[in-house]
Amino acid sequence: MSTTSTTTPGTSHPGADRLAYGELEISFDDRVLRPRPWTAAQSRWAADLLRTAPPGPVLELCSGAGHIGLLAVHGSRRHLVCVDANPAATELTAANARAAGMADRVETREGWIRDVLRAGETFPLVVADPPWVPAAETGRFPEDPLLAIDGGEDGLVVVREVLQALRQHLAPGGVALLQLGTAAQAEAVGEALRDSGLVPGELREYGDRGVLLRLDRPA
Ligand SMILES: C[S@@+](CC[C@H](N)C(=O)[O-])C[C@H]1O[C@@H](n2cnc3c(N)ncnc32)[C@H](O)[C@@H]1O
Repeated sequence: MSTTSTTTPGTSHPGADRLAYGELEISFDDRVLRPRPWTAAQSRWAADLLRTAPPGPVLELCSGAGHIGLLAVHGSRRHLVCVDANPAATELTAANARAAGMADRVETREGWIRDVLRAGETFPLVVADPPWVPAAETGRFPEDPLLAIDGGEDGLVVVREVLQALRQHLAPGGVALLQLGTAAQAEAVGEALRDSGLVPGELREYGDRGVLLRLDRPA
């Protein structure tokens, strides 16, 4: 994947910029986390899974500028629902969907995960990228917005909110790809899901950048 970065003259928010993310060009600024090129691996894995996933829209939790979900569904006809508590994130996601010619199949929902999913709605594929840095360690990342990285006391507070959403909204036969910081966090997630009906599967590790954990809900 090529990555280029260019300044965007005349834009209104500090740090406004664009970069190539797979086949897409993604706009972002200082109000959200700068897109990390390695996370396209989550999109690619999701796109592979989509070929055999049950019908229905894809859910992206903690979307930031929306790049992971947009790249995941770009080569398909799937609809995408993007959730983020930061209004700047949903604004940028909508703009990035328009730029990619995908506005007619991308819905943004601004709010906490626990508040914006509707009773009874289910998704065959979920991608999630919650904050996972323990609160006491967020000072290691001074350039990142706190809301994007602060995972609470043990780093897993928002991850648990994601897991609760998966329990309620991952369709039978569905798959979720969860981004976490470390293999130890993935193990903790496995423990938290014991007897939940969600089954932890393959773990892909990307050095000190993060890990991706597959979770299945058997049909
Ligand atoms: C690690 S960032 C990931 C953003 C994006 N996926 C990326 O790769 O840059 C986490 C995102 O989750 C959002 N967020 C944090 N807590 C949330 C919550 N409880 N409900 C919804 N969104 C939340 C933040 O605003 C932030 O955009």
